[in-house]
Amino acid sequence: MTHTSGRYDFHDKRCDYERLAADLAALLAGESDLIANAANTAALLFDALPAINWAGFYFLRGGELVVGPFQGKPACVRIALGRGVCGTAAERRATVVVPDVHAFPGHIACDSASRSEIVVPLVGAHGLLGVLDIDSPDPGRFDEEDARGIERLAAVFLAAGPAP
Ligand code: SME
Repeated sequence: MTHTSGRYDFHDKRCDYERLAADLAALLAGESDLIANAANTAALLFDALPAINWAGFYFLRGGELVVGPFQGKPACVRIALGRGVCGTAAERRATVVVPDVHAFPGHIACDSASRSEIVVPLVGAHGLLGVLDIDSPDPGRFDEEDARGIERLAAVFLAAGPAP
């Protein structure tokens, strides 16, 4: 198994997200267990992406989001659809980039070090599966290229797992 630490500097974001997507596909190849793949995806992203302090999943369970595998500080367990950044992205089925979490109404603070955040919805063949959430201690950490790159990573994760 490859270990990615130090292999990405993200000076060329497009190129490095492509390489990271290929590494993620290789890491998940041949395995479709949702929890196993979510755990390894969170670990790979937390290791590879610079300037982040939380990376992981919330899955839709009984009409609300429930925390799944992640790397970072312990997080709030349940988030209602429409609440916080995660619930907003889930409800809209659209990526939400928050350059300043303090300026986002209803932001749910799990780690007080977080300053910016991106949440990508996971929409499979049978609808909303959950969200992929990444936090950064730096304001404005995530731009449009990060959004497209992390959406690509989410698509690789979705392609590996069973339908929800
Ligand atoms: N900040 C998120 C909550 C999850 S933590 O960041 C891990 C939100 O507002 O939905």
